[in-house]
Amino acid sequence: MSETRFTPLFFFFFFFFLFISIPITVIHSQTINDERTVLLNLKQQLGNPPSISSWNSSSSPCDWSEIYCTTGSVTELYLNEKDINSTIPPSICDLKNLTFLDLTLNFILGEFPITLYNCSKLQFLYLSQNYFVGQIPSDIDRLSSLISLDISANNFSGNIPPSIGKFPVLRSLYMHQNLFNGTFPKEIGNLSNLEELGMAYNPFVPMEIPLEFGFLKKLWYLWMKGTNLIGEIPENFNNLSSLQQFDLSINNLEGPIPSDLFSIENLTIVYLFKNHLSNEIPREINALNLVEVDLSQNNFTGSIPEGFGKLQSLRFLNLFSNQLTGELPAGIGSLPLLRDFKVFQNRLSGVLPSEFGVYSKLEAFEVSENQFRGELPENLCAGGVLQGKREIDLGFLSTR
Ligand SMILES: *[C@@H]1O[C@H](CO)[C@@H](O)[C@H](O)[C@H]1NC(C)=O
Ligand SMILES: *[C@@H]1O[C@H](CO)[C@@H](O)[C@H](O)[C@H]1NC(C)=O
Ligand SMILES: *[C@@H]1O[C@H](CO)[C@@H](O)[C@H](O)[C@H]1NC(C)=O
Ligand SMILES: *[C@@H]1O[C@H](CO)[C@@H](O)[C@H](O)[C@H]1NC(C)=O
Ligand SMILES: *[C@@H]1O[C@H](CO)[C@@H](O)[C@H](O)[C@H]1NC(C)=O
Ligand SMILES: *[C@@H]1O[C@H](CO)[C@@H](O)[C@H](O)[C@H]1NC(C)=O
Ligand SMILES: *[C@@H]1O[C@H](CO)[C@@H](O)[C@H](O)[C@H]1NC(C)=O
Ligand SMILES: *[C@@H]1O[C@H](CO)[C@@H](O)[C@H](O)[C@H]1NC(C)=O
Ligand SMILES: *[C@@H]1O[C@H](CO)[C@@H](O)[C@H](O)[C@H]1NC(C)=O
Ligand SMILES: *[C@@H]1O[C@H](CO)[C@@H](O)[C@H](O)[C@H]1NC(C)=O
Repeated sequence: MSETRFTPLFFFFFFFFLFISIPITVIHSQTINDERTVLLNLKQQLGNPPSISSWNSSSSPCDWSEIYCTTGSVTELYLNEKDINSTIPPSICDLKNLTFLDLTLNFILGEFPITLYNCSKLQFLYLSQNYFVGQIPSDIDRLSSLISLDISANNFSGNIPPSIGKFPVLRSLYMHQNLFNGTFPKEIGNLSNLEELGMAYNPFVPMEIPLEFGFLKKLWYLWMKGTNLIGEIPENFNNLSSLQQFDLSINNLEGPIPSDLFSIENLTIVYLFKNHLSNEIPREINALNLVEVDLSQNNFTGSIPEGFGKLQSLRFLNLFSNQLTGELPAGIGSLPLLRDFKVFQNRLSGVLPSEFGVYSKLEAFEVSENQFRGELPENLCAGGVLQGKREIDLGFLSTR
C-alpha cells in the first residue's frame, strides 16, 4: 500500500474547515432533521394516530412531549397509551440512538417485535398491555443492551427460552399475566444483575423453582404468584440477601420455609398463602422491618414464633387456616402498626392479649375456630375502625 502524504498546511485547512467553519449546531440540527424525517415516517406507518398529531415538520422533535433527546439526538420514545393498533415499523430503529421505548397500553398485534433487534442501543423496552401472541423468540438476547424488559399482560405462550438468561446488564424482567403454558428456564439464575422478577399469573406446566434462582444476589422483588410451582422452596433462598418483597402465593409448594428467610435484613413483604407448606414457621425472626406476612392456607404446625411479637412495622399478619398450636407471642397485642390480625382456623390456645386495639387501630381481627379461652380484649375497637368481620383482598402490590 502506498502512503499518501499530507503537508501540515493541508491539515491546518482540513481542521479549520471541519471544526471552525461548520458550526457545531449545524451538525446537531442535521441529526435532528434526519430524525424528524424518521419520526414523521414512523407516525405515518403507525397510521397517523390522532394521539401524536402534534408531530409536524415545523417543530423540533425534541420539543414533542413523547420524545426525549440527549445532546440533540432522540434517545427516548414514550408511545404508551397512544391508541396504536398497527405493528411496530422497522424504521423505528433508524433512530440510532434510541435507548428507551415505551409502547405500554396500546392495541399492538402480532408476534414479539424482532424488528427491534436493529435498535442496537435499546436499554428499556416496555411492551406491556398489548395483544402480542406467540412464543418469545429463542434469540431474544440479541437485544443485548437491555436493562429493563416488560412484556407483561399480553398473550405470549409456550416456553420462556433459556436465552432470557443471557442479558448481561438486565435489572428488571416482567413477564406476568401472559399465557405461558410451557416452562421457564433455570438460566434466569444467570442474570447476576437482576433486581426485579415478575412472572406471576401464568399457566406454566407444574415446575419446581430452579435452585439457580437462589443465586440472584441483587434480587429485591420476586413475584411468582399463581405459576403452578411444585416442590419445595429452595433452601438456598436464604442467600437472596437483597430480598424485600417475596410472593410465591397460590401455588402447590410443599415442605418448610427456608430456615433463614426471616433473617434477610430488608425483607418487608412475604406472601406464601395458599400452598401446601408445612413444618414449623422458622423461629429466627431478624427481618425487623417486616410489614406484611401472609402464610395463611397452608399446613404449618407448631406455635407462632415469639419474634413476630417484636416487629414494630408489622401491619398484616395472616396465619389463618393452618395447624398452628400454642399461645400467641407476647407483645403481639402491643405492636404499634398492626391493622390486620387473622389467625382463624388453627388450634391456638391461651388468652388473647388484652392490649389488642390499644396501641394500634385494628381493621380486621379474626380469631375464630381456635381454642382460645377467657375474654375478648376489651379495647379492640378503640381505634374506631374495626367493624366486625371484614374481608380485605390484599392483592400483591406492584411497586413500580
Ligand atoms: C386503528 O387506529 C386508527 C387511528 O389511530 C383508526 O383510524 C383505525 O380505525 C384503527 N383500526 C382498527 C382496526 O382499529
Ligand atoms: C406544529 O406543532 C407545534 C407544536 O408541536 C404547533 O405549535 C404548531 O402549530 C404546529 N404547526 C403546524 C403547521 O401544524
Ligand atoms: C447519536 O448521538 C451522538 C451524540 O450523543 C451524535 O453524535 C450522533 O450524531 C447521534 N446519532 C444519530 C444517528 O443521531
Ligand atoms: C435490520 O436491518 C437490516 C438492514 O436494514 C435488515 O436487513 C434486517 O432484516 C433487519 N433485522 C431485523 C431483525 O429486522
Ligand atoms: C388473549 O387471550 C384471551 C384469553 O385467553 C382471549 O380472550 C383473547 O381473545 C386473546 N387475545 C388475542 C389478541 O389473542
Ligand atoms: C400453549 O398455548 C398455545 C397458544 O394458545 C397453544 O397453541 C398450545 O397448544 C399450548 N401448548 C400446550 C402444551 O398446552
Ligand atoms: C447459565 O446457567 C446454566 C445453568 O443454570 C449454566 O450451565 C451456564 O453455564 C450459565 N451460563 C453462563 C453464561 O453463565
Ligand atoms: C450461599 O451463599 C454463600 C456465601 O454467600 C455460599 O458460600 C453458599 O454456597 C451459597 N449457598 C448456596 C446453596 O447457594
Ligand atoms: C438494606 O437497605 C438499606 C437501606 O436501603 C441498604 O443500605 C442495605 O444495603 C440493604 N441491605 C441489603 C443486604 O441489601
Ligand atoms: C394438610 O395436610 C393434610 C394431611 O397431610 C392434608 O390432608 C391436607 O390436604 C393438607 N392441606 C394443605 C392445605 O396442604
